[in-house]
Amino acid sequence: MSESTPVIAVQGLTKHYGGVKALTDAEFRLNPGEHVAIVGDNGAGKSTFVRLITGVEQPSRGDILMDGQPVAFDSPLDAREQGVETVFQNLALAEDLDVPANIFMGREITRLNLGPLSILNHRAMRAQSVEMLSTTGVKIQDLSEPMRGMSGGQRQCVAIARAAGFAKKLIILDEPTAALGVQETARVEEIIRGLKARGVPLIIISHNLRQVFDLVDRIYVFRQGRIICSRLKSETTPEEIVGLITGAIDPASLPQAEATTC
Ligand SMILES: Nc1ncnc2c1ncn2[C@@H]1O[C@H](COP(=O)(O)OP(=O)(O)OP(=O)(O)O)[C@@H](O)[C@H]1O
Ligand SMILES: [Mg+2]
Repeated sequence: MSESTPVIAVQGLTKHYGGVKALTDAEFRLNPGEHVAIVGDNGAGKSTFVRLITGVEQPSRGDILMDGQPVAFDSPLDAREQGVETVFQNLALAEDLDVPANIFMGREITRLNLGPLSILNHRAMRAQSVEMLSTTGVKIQDLSEPMRGMSGGQRQCVAIARAAGFAKKLIILDEPTAALGVQETARVEEIIRGLKARGVPLIIISHNLRQVFDLVDRIYVFRQGRIICSRLKSETTPEEIVGLITGAIDPASLPQAEATTC
């Protein structure tokens, strides 16, 4: 496999719900170690794109390649087993389970591995949960309470801690700091920088352009169900990105810099 084989490449990816064209002919690639942002107005198709590449939903048409090989994930669990961790916009946590059970769902630590009769190592999972959550800076008094009673920010931190802790091949964050306070947002941004240092590729969806320009290498702009442009951060500005999002700037009018596709 060559150095330049993308971690993930998407060709012609399309999802139509009856007459609603949520995503049409999306072309996307993420290079090894790269961090990219996806930006666009509400309803532009960003979460649809994430659901398609993580197996939550199946595309109407189009191809997804990971490390150059076609993939078709049946479910987010299938994607996780292959190293793709996602924090979904709706979080996908089990309301009735506590924090360690949510963090270790599907990869429980056992004291004795007897298949379905395995004895779970609750102490180890609890200790690791405390450690993983500490990276987000969130305060949760009692980890053994079910998720149901937790705030939006606490839930978001549990989902982020889980994804960052287990991500091997790729991490996808759909508006990860939307419900977070200033300090928790700063901690999550530190986690993202740590993933960059570890070489874990990342896709972040965010409406916060300050955050986008602080964190990523490249920006994909979604507009009305299409990917209209990809811009290297070093070759664009927040004003240009806003113009692309709103339609005030026509992507065809931009200079075609190297490694920047529009
Ligand atoms: N299950 C569905 N059935 C019908 N339409 C859908 C479905 N899911 C999404 N859509 C539509 O597809 C379009 C894209 O939705 P999507 O959730 O991908 O937007 P988004 O870019 O993530 O927006 P936001 O910034 O608000 O999260 C919207 O018009 C939405 O109403
Ligand atoms: Mg969304």
